[in-house]
Amino acid sequence: MWMSRLSMVLLIVIFALTLTGSLSELCNPQDKKALLEFKKDLGNPTTLSSWQPNTDCCDPEWYGVLCDTDNKTYRVNQLYVTDLNLSHTYHIPSSISNLSYLNLLYLTTTPNLVGQIPSSIVNLTKLHYLYITRTGLSGHIPRFLSQMKTIVTIDLSYNNLSGTLPPSLSSLPNLQGLAFDCNRIKGSIPVSYGSFSAKFTALTLSRNRLTGEIPATLAKLNLTFMDLSLNKLEGDASVLFGKDKNTQEMNLAKNLLEFDFGNVELPKDLERLDIRNNRIYGTLPAGLTALKYLSRFNVSYNNLCGEIPQGGNLQKFDKSSYAHNECLCGSPLPSCT
Ligand SMILES: *[C@@H]1O[C@H](CO)[C@@H](O)[C@H](O)[C@H]1NC(C)=O
Ligand SMILES: *[C@@H]1O[C@H](CO)[C@@H](O)[C@H](O)[C@H]1NC(C)=O
Ligand SMILES: *[C@@H]1O[C@H](CO)[C@@H](O)[C@H](O)[C@H]1NC(C)=O
Ligand SMILES: *[C@@H]1O[C@H](CO)[C@@H](O)[C@H](O)[C@H]1NC(C)=O
Ligand SMILES: *[C@@H]1O[C@H](CO)[C@@H](O)[C@H](O)[C@H]1NC(C)=O
Ligand SMILES: *[C@@H]1O[C@H](CO)[C@@H](O)[C@H](O)[C@H]1NC(C)=O
Ligand SMILES: *[C@@H]1O[C@H](CO)[C@@H](O)[C@H](O)[C@H]1NC(C)=O
Repeated sequence: MWMSRLSMVLLIVIFALTLTGSLSELCNPQDKKALLEFKKDLGNPTTLSSWQPNTDCCDPEWYGVLCDTDNKTYRVNQLYVTDLNLSHTYHIPSSISNLSYLNLLYLTTTPNLVGQIPSSIVNLTKLHYLYITRTGLSGHIPRFLSQMKTIVTIDLSYNNLSGTLPPSLSSLPNLQGLAFDCNRIKGSIPVSYGSFSAKFTALTLSRNRLTGEIPATLAKLNLTFMDLSLNKLEGDASVLFGKDKNTQEMNLAKNLLEFDFGNVELPKDLERLDIRNNRIYGTLPAGLTALKYLSRFNVSYNNLCGEIPQGGNLQKFDKSSYAHNECLCGSPLPSCT
């Protein structure tokens, strides 16, 4: 025999390696097809130049693409795309809906992305996290979002969305956070927003055109983060507070809110409280001195009156945090006479 047993074994090993080499692509062919379609539909932007048909989409080389390695399905489950350098304006391609294993969709900082949020995303039946921010997207917040029962977080901040807030979003069973900051959303906060599931902890609607009163039903919410600043909300916001709530941040700044602050019971973990530029009256609640974590605080430009309670962190804040009220006095402002 001219061929030794050893070299035969080696040949077999080499053959096996070559075979597995060609089969070693982890990317699911349907996912690759959908990604390449998505790229083409956006005019092959330079940001996605690492998406090449002859390479593995599960390879870290592919910008913004992650495959499920935990459960070894290797389906594309996260798409994390920012600063797409689009040559002109494009809509979100409907080919996105063929990435049917997506758990997270993150599309941001792409002003040339315009048009409406496509209804095809309703077909992403495993989607938990939807972030589409800092784009030129316009139109309404889609009503079909309330059909996406797996959704945990919806962040559509810093777009050009208009219309009103969809009341039906409160029926999403797994929803934990909603963010629609900095759009052109008008109308009032729906009464139904008092009935989010108990998992719901963050609502941020700042920099819109919201009007009307804060619904009394919102008393039921127990939020960690709430930001309603820079709208035109009116009336009583005292229902948002409560001593047994978990709130760390409450921002109501720059609205038309008008209520007696003196009777408000403050959540004990409150770290940031901003109610500046409203029409809030009454005294500062004595409970403010008991807030151990309070580190940002501004009640300026309201109609508050009386002595600033002495103690806690209240004397550590700048005078400007208290300025322009009806008759607040005492440290750090001049003493009451
Ligand atoms: C893996 O499967 C488990 C159980 O079905 C699921 O909870 C988890 O989210 C999956 N992980 C990924 C990354 O899809
Ligand atoms: C964006 O695209 C243009 C041409 O389409 C190119 O000249 C430029 O270098 C690209 N910028 C980045 C950051 O990729
Ligand atoms: C989804 O994939 C199928 C099969 O490849 C294709 O026929 C269909 O056009 C795709 N849909 C979209 C919206 O791209
Ligand atoms: C969802 O997918 C199905 C099957 O691929 C398709 O017929 C339907 O038009 C899609 N829905 C949307 C809203 O794109
Ligand atoms: C927002 O949309 C309006 C009309 O829908 C349009 O006139 C305006 O230019 C858009 N603004 C931006 C920053 O895209
Ligand atoms: C708010 O939630 C926290 C824990 O997440 C809980 O301890 C507290 O009792 C809740 N408060 C109310 C008023 O539901
Ligand atoms: C409080 O708000 C007022 C009004 O917007 C602002 O001028 C001042 O600098 C703020 N003070 C602090 C400490 O944030």
